[in-house]
Parts: sequence; structure tokens; C-alpha cells
Amino acid sequence: MGSIGIGPKTEDPGAEIRNHIAQLLRGRFGFRGGQLQERSLADAVRERMRALGRSNPADYLRDLLSDGDDGRELPALLSEYTNTETHFFRHRGRFELLCARVLPELLARKNRSPRPLRLLSAGCSSGDEVYSIVMSLWPHRSKWNPFGLEVVGCDINERALAKARLARYGSWPLRFAPPNIKAGFFAPCPGEHGILEVNEAVRRHTSFRRANLVDPGLPDQPGMAGFDVIFCCNVIIYLDGPSTVRLLDNLWRMLEPDGFLFLGYTENFPGLRQTCETVSSQDYVAYRKPRPERPATPAGEHVRGPLPRDPVVPSAGTKVKAPAAAAPGPDENTAGLCELARRHCLADRHEAAAEIVDRLLDRAPHCAPARLLRGHLLCGRGERAAAADECIKVLDIDPLCAAAHLLLGMLLAEAEALEDAVGEVRKALFLDRDLPLAHYTLGKLQAGQGNREEAVRAFSAAIRVVHAQPDKPVAAELPVELGARALAELAEQQIVRLKLGGS
Ligand SMILES: C[S@@+](CC[C@H](N)C(=O)[O-])C[C@H]1O[C@@H](n2cnc3c(N)ncnc32)[C@H](O)[C@@H]1O
Repeated sequence: MGSIGIGPKTEDPGAEIRNHIAQLLRGRFGFRGGQLQERSLADAVRERMRALGRSNPADYLRDLLSDGDDGRELPALLSEYTNTETHFFRHRGRFELLCARVLPELLARKNRSPRPLRLLSAGCSSGDEVYSIVMSLWPHRSKWNPFGLEVVGCDINERALAKARLARYGSWPLRFAPPNIKAGFFAPCPGEHGILEVNEAVRRHTSFRRANLVDPGLPDQPGMAGFDVIFCCNVIIYLDGPSTVRLLDNLWRMLEPDGFLFLGYTENFPGLRQTCETVSSQDYVAYRKPRPERPATPAGEHVRGPLPRDPVVPSAGTKVKAPAAAAPGPDENTAGLCELARRHCLADRHEAAAEIVDRLLDRAPHCAPARLLRGHLLCGRGERAAAADECIKVLDIDPLCAAAHLLLGMLLAEAEALEDAVGEVRKALFLDRDLPLAHYTLGKLQAGQGNREEAVRAFSAAIRVVHAQPDKPVAAELPVELGARALAELAEQQIVRLKLGGS
């Protein structure tokens, strides 16, 4: 692969790379921009580069991309970047509302279904909220003890999660805790002056895990559904509009019917108030998820409560709009011509498409979408090496182009460079988790290598993504004729074949 370019020269090449990284984090985790966050992203990147002994930001971006989803660098960067401000009994009224109004309702229902009471702290940071929940519910334990109590904390920040698991705190995070809390639930840490450790009796009811709240696959992960109560406080304020919708959609799927959702103090959604019953006390409110009106479909689609599709940006009171792309795209005329070329490709008018693409690239050789189309056309003509070359050029211009990684992966697969192919497809998925053709291609590659379980997982992901977003093109900007439903059917057939023992 060619090196990751930093595009046209600017005064501060680091700023351009940071822009790419900001885009990457926005795509994966939904962080909205804003000057403050950009400044802390700059600090986070600088800190990570220092830790890795990197001096060139372009090298750092390459590390980040090649490390991929399961690697260590992305969690390390997130640990530097996300705002983890929290403390015990933050907005105490929420915990009082939980005990006074929500718990009695849940307990009344538990008599009919005797499974543990399950609560989630989504975006739990260092665990203060998780332990505050257990400590608030403690005086009522004679009522919940017969069923059991589980409080799960999840976050993307691994450093914060490690702190949560350690359960040791100084006096500052406990500054707003009720007076009896320190004596009742903590013990001094021997040899660590001023540090208190949460008692084992409380910790036994808690667990922590890494999870991205805007990942559409999250509710399908083991243990991430069936919650009676979800606290998701002071997380949405950091997200952009589309990610807020994804996050709320996830929370809704993870919550039991009649379960309760607590949001942060300033995270008000008039849409939720219109569709949900609420319980409230003083300034605090919890939303009750309505029971589904229709049964689950045979296809296994999730039945969702009537989550409003147009939530309103917290406190700002304006409708959510997709954020403007951070990197400058092609001008209107170029974009229109690329679209025309794409349509020609889809209608099998490849010569007409090639003519437009050639003209465009004569005029604007750095136009990544046109280069991608040229790669696609060359691939269609069987000119694999030239097509791969175009993909590499696209990635030199736009290192975050998921479609270019995907096309390169498919070309490498055809050339039987299977390991490299898997690497490229994974990069595509790292940049765009919801790319159905990338999941499908990964499934084919894994099946071809005899990795059945991984193949089934990848095909299932393709189906899930199509069900979640049936109108999304299966291969991003690549003009692939295959429709989303057809791809899902193919994936289903592949799963059946694998389960019957084929590869
Ligand atoms: C300001 S803290 C809030 C902690 C706690 N909920 C509270 O209200 O005190 C926000 C937390 O959300 C986490 N977070 C942000 N985006 C996330 C995402 N997409 N998935 C999971 N956690 C996320 C951050 O890592 C951070 O720990």
C-alpha cells in the first residue's frame, strides 16, 4: 500500500490529520465537533504520538488505521479524548426518583416474572453512577433480594472502565454523596491515604464492559438487552444529531417494555415526552417505554416502541441536522458529474461513465470520488492491478474512504491475497460499521478460509445492517447493482450453507 498522504500542503499538516481523525471518531462514535473538542482532540493526538514516540501525524494516522477495531490504539486515543467528568450521586434527585417511584413499579412486576432487576449505566465513566445506583437501592434490598440485582456499566473509555473496576476513590468524587454513604459502603484502602474502596457487598452487584452506544449491533450483543432501567446521562450532549438518534434507538431496543429511561439534566427531548409516559419528582423525569403495539415479526425484526424519529437537539431546541462534512468535498459541478457517472455504471453504460470520469480527472486529478469510480470501472474490465492502483491513489487523497478499502479488499480477494484482503475489508468496516457489502465480503473471505463461526457472524452482521438501514447503498459510493434486500438474502443463503456444513 502507498503511504497515507496528507493531501495538499498546508501550514499545519497536523491540523489536516486531526481533521481526518475527528472525522473517523465522528463516524464511529458520533462525537460532534466544536472548538473545545477539537482542541482536546489535538491534545489527545499529541499525547498518543508522544507515548508512541511518533513525530509525524501522518504516521500516527496510519498506525490508527492499520491497528483496526480490535487493536489497542483506538481505545488508547479514546481514553485520552472523551470527557469522563462524573461523581457519586450526580443530580441526587434522579436516585431519589428511582427509589421512590420507579422501584415500586418494577417490584410489582417482578412478582410476575422473577428474574433479577437489571439496570444499565450507559456511558458510566469511572463507575460512580453505577455504585451510586446500588447504594441508593441498598436500603430496599429486602424487596429486591429475592430476585437479585445487576447493575451493568458500559463505556468506550477503557481507562475509565479500569478505574470503575478498581472501585477506589478519593474524597473529591464523593463530595455530593449523602453523609452516611462513606461510612456505610466504603472501607479505607490500606497504605493509600485518603482513598476509599467500595465494599465487596456492593461490587458483587456490578459489572463493567466496553461498548459503543452508537453501534447498531450493540443491543444484539449478549447481555445487552432486557434492562428494566437505563441511565444514560451526560453522554448525548457530546454526540451529533444522527448519532443521538442511533443511540436512542439502541437504548430503546435494550430496554424492556415498561422499562424506564433516565437522561441527563439538560438532555430534554420533547419528542420523548410526547410519546412516553413519564414519572417525575422535582426537576427529574424518567421515561417509561411503551409496550409494543404489534408482535415480533416472523423475520425476527425488532419491535420497537414508538421512538420519535426526529428528536430535538438537547436544550438547543432546534431540529437535528446531519453535520456538514469536515473535509471539503468536490464542488457541486464535480459532484453532479460523479453522480451521473455512477448512474451510467448502474445502467451498464460503462463507456459513457468512463468518458465522464476521464474528463473529470483531467480537470481535477485529486478528485477522490472520480478516482474511485475509475477503480470500479477498471475492476469491471478485469484490470485488477490498475484498479488497485486507483484505490491506493484514492486513499492517498482520502485515507478515510471506506469504499476504497472495500474495493481494494475485493481486488485482493480475487488475486487470492486473502490475508491482505481481510485486512482491507476490516479497515472498510472500521471506517463504516454499516457497510453491508463489506460484512458480506468478510463473510465470504472467512468462509473461504474455513472460519465458519466468523463467517456466520459477518453474514449475520450484513443482514442486521440491511434490516436496520434498508435504504442505505450496500457499498457506499461504489455503484454496485446489488440491492440491500438481495444482499441480505444472499447472506442468509450463505449462513444456511455454512450451517449445513458447506464452506
Ligand atoms: C461526562 S461522562 C458521564 C458519566 C455519567 N453518566 C454521569 O452522568 O456522571 C460521559 C461518558 O460517556 C462516554 N461515552 C461517550 N460517547 C460514548 C459512546 N459512543 N459509547 C459509550 N460511551 C460513550 C465517555 O467515555 C464518558 O465516560
